[in-house]
Amino acid sequence: MPDALKVLVDNLLAQHLLTQDEAGVFFQVSAHETNTNTDAAQPISYTPKNVLVTGGAGFIGSHFIRFMLATHPKVMIINFDKLTYAGNLDNIRDVAAQYPDRYTFIQGDIADAPTVGKLLATYPVDTIVNFAAETHVDRSILDAGDFMRTDVLGTRVLLEAVRTHKVARMVQVSTDEVYGSIPEDAFTESSPLAPNSPYAASKAGGDLLARAYHMTYKVPVVITRCSNNYGPFQHPEKLIPLFTTNLLEGKKAPLYGDGLHVRDWLFVGDHCRALNVILTRGVTGEVYNIGGGEQKTNLEITEHILTTLHLDVSRIMQVQDREGHDRRYAIDCTKLRGLGWMPLYRFADALTKTIHWYADNMWWWKKIKNPAFQAYYAQQYDKRSPI
Ligand code: NAD
Ligand code: TYD
Repeated sequence: MPDALKVLVDNLLAQHLLTQDEAGVFFQVSAHETNTNTDAAQPISYTPKNVLVTGGAGFIGSHFIRFMLATHPKVMIINFDKLTYAGNLDNIRDVAAQYPDRYTFIQGDIADAPTVGKLLATYPVDTIVNFAAETHVDRSILDAGDFMRTDVLGTRVLLEAVRTHKVARMVQVSTDEVYGSIPEDAFTESSPLAPNSPYAASKAGGDLLARAYHMTYKVPVVITRCSNNYGPFQHPEKLIPLFTTNLLEGKKAPLYGDGLHVRDWLFVGDHCRALNVILTRGVTGEVYNIGGGEQKTNLEITEHILTTLHLDVSRIMQVQDREGHDRRYAIDCTKLRGLGWMPLYRFADALTKTIHWYADNMWWWKKIKNPAFQAYYAQQYDKRSPI
């Protein structure tokens, strides 16, 4: 196993995110999926060299940077992040220390066209992976302004930069939420877009702009639509970290409505692996769904967290529902599986390990649950009367 892979495996083992058995499987399959693959049946179509990762101080972007540096020994990464309330250099501190020659952080805004233009004129970027976004549905219901600016206009700035500076490949990280809610079956890539929250609408705007830039200007962009992620370093405004950290603080878990809304959950490491496969082997202009096939109600997730923390259902507080709340997400990943990807983390194990990670890393989330977060929490939850 190459040194960098070994370090990644050792970190995951230390964080209790992999068992020894899983570690073996993980790297067997990862090697097949990355550029070490020599199987002629799975030709490598694209080798990234200088990658601009936008939003790399957030949850998924930080995991993706770690994964890429470990699995592509020659890749150079620039992490370009505005450091909004959701951006956090603690998420990526280990990477900065471990790869000083291959990793650079630059603070900046993807919607700031002159700055993005200067960046692309200065560095020989051949690849952009765009994670930068406002991402929380509940915040988008309070105020959609920043969502439109970053998720729509910011994406346009990046697409223009790809066009002008002849960047070889871009991945636009979209979401399954652009499809809206589905009562049964699962969304395929050709399902119509029907976003129901301002967040989903802003992501659909970026997603459709990426398509349009490919159709109009032949911009080499691939679009991904992933289901709900979970794992370490997820902002504690989202369901799993919010409930886990609230419960660890002795507070309640505010479950919206009847708690029977369904999400398809995917461990963040599996999302990163999928993005790598799509980046290196996906076809530009195409859309790829990514999902775990693990459909769970919010109540089931809450019960799993309670059991893991040895607590009972009295710690659930059912509260007034989210406005426009999508009832069910389910995603068909047949197209991506055709590229050789499949999820490796078993849901129940990875969720338990994720909950333990939050229990073991209070230093990380206590800093985030600061007075600004408490003000947001009051604005979001004080109005939700218990039901
Ligand atoms: P996150 O909120 O944890 O991180 C977003 C990052 O983007 C932060 O570091 C923030 O500082 C940065 N950012 C925000 N506005 C910016 C701007 N204008 N310029 C530069 N940086 C900016 O988000 P996440 O959960 O890691 O999601 C990453 C991407 O994946 C998003 O595009 C999201 O829509 C998509 N996605 C997320 C999920 C999920 O379950 N979390 C699922 C599918 C798709
Ligand atoms: P969230 O993590 O915000 O992701 P998304 O809305 O993008 O799917 O929410 C996941 C599910 O959990 C969603 O159905 C809403 C629900 N939820 C609650 O019940 N209570 C909460 O406090 C939060 C934040 C979410």
